[in-house]
Amino acid sequence: MDPNLIARTASLYQRVRHVIPAMEWPLFAEDIDAILALKRRRHAVILAHNYQTPEIFHCVADIVGDSLALAREAMTVEADVIVMAGVHFMAETAKLLNPAKIVLIPDQEVGCSLAESITPADVHLMRQRYPGVPIVTYVNTSAAVKAASDICCTSGNAKRVVESLGVDRVIMLPDEYLAQNVAAETDVSIIAWSGHCEVHERFTVKDVRQLRRDHPGLIVLAHPECPPSVVAEADFAGSTAALSDYVATRRPSRVVLLTECSMSDNIAVHYPELDFVRPCNLCPHMKRITLANIRTALEEMRHEVTIDAAAAEPARRAVERMLAV
Ligand code: 13P
Ligand code: SF4
Repeated sequence: MDPNLIARTASLYQRVRHVIPAMEWPLFAEDIDAILALKRRRHAVILAHNYQTPEIFHCVADIVGDSLALAREAMTVEADVIVMAGVHFMAETAKLLNPAKIVLIPDQEVGCSLAESITPADVHLMRQRYPGVPIVTYVNTSAAVKAASDICCTSGNAKRVVESLGVDRVIMLPDEYLAQNVAAETDVSIIAWSGHCEVHERFTVKDVRQLRRDHPGLIVLAHPECPPSVVAEADFAGSTAALSDYVATRRPSRVVLLTECSMSDNIAVHYPELDFVRPCNLCPHMKRITLANIRTALEEMRHEVTIDAAAAEPARRAVERMLAV
């Protein structure tokens, strides 16, 4: 590896040395160096979700967080270009909230099993079936589905959003498990849809009990997209930001995060002394984002995210109503 490149990236490697073996660093260093230069040239910032791999999350991202934090931060970005290291609905949300910016997504196929589980026509049918019942839609949906809804929520604010409406019944789309997990914590009655996250639906109660047997003293943290039976077995459930905060404030000596794999790596960078047990469920969509395609996105200014004009205004309203709660 070029000695100048080694010197330029040495301080970045120090950040991630606990989770990236030294022999792998040369595979990343050149792209990282090029991306940092391209960000300056394009006046760009990179927003990265907590599920991005450590070389993206810790070495090239300017803003990191859960879906709620990325939406809030996207709104105030002053740079000309936002590159979303996350899935497509996150890039759409950034574009909705800061429409004057160029929003790039490094891979156009970054879907989400929840976003794909529902269409605007489904939302209209639910409205017809339950007239007058407000529709709360998870941000993990397309802009067109958001546009057909009353208000959005994330896993970080779902209960607050549901209770803010001041009604005794809401429709909550499309994540059945998130809806059931919120229903367990509120008096508001919740009508759910049948969408599931393909990553979180795979965790089972049997897994959790086996993990506790194999790792005495284990603290189990779960994302609320996990089935309610799994959340009931966990010590704590919350959004990806809430799971990170739990580790930061409570410092459990042995912990498992029932969520996407990269979360543990990204947190372990800050707390190498903690023992992270890692049953690994990868999100194949999040993992389509790589240093190589972030670099190409900035070199070629692709793929620009646009939102259908008819959907943009009502979708923005649904997201802004959420942010005002
Ligand atoms: P968070 O909003 O908790 O970051 O979750 C997003 C997501 O896609 C979880 O699978
Ligand atoms: Fe969608 Fe699940 Fe991947 Fe999150 S982890 S982006 S909900 S498929």
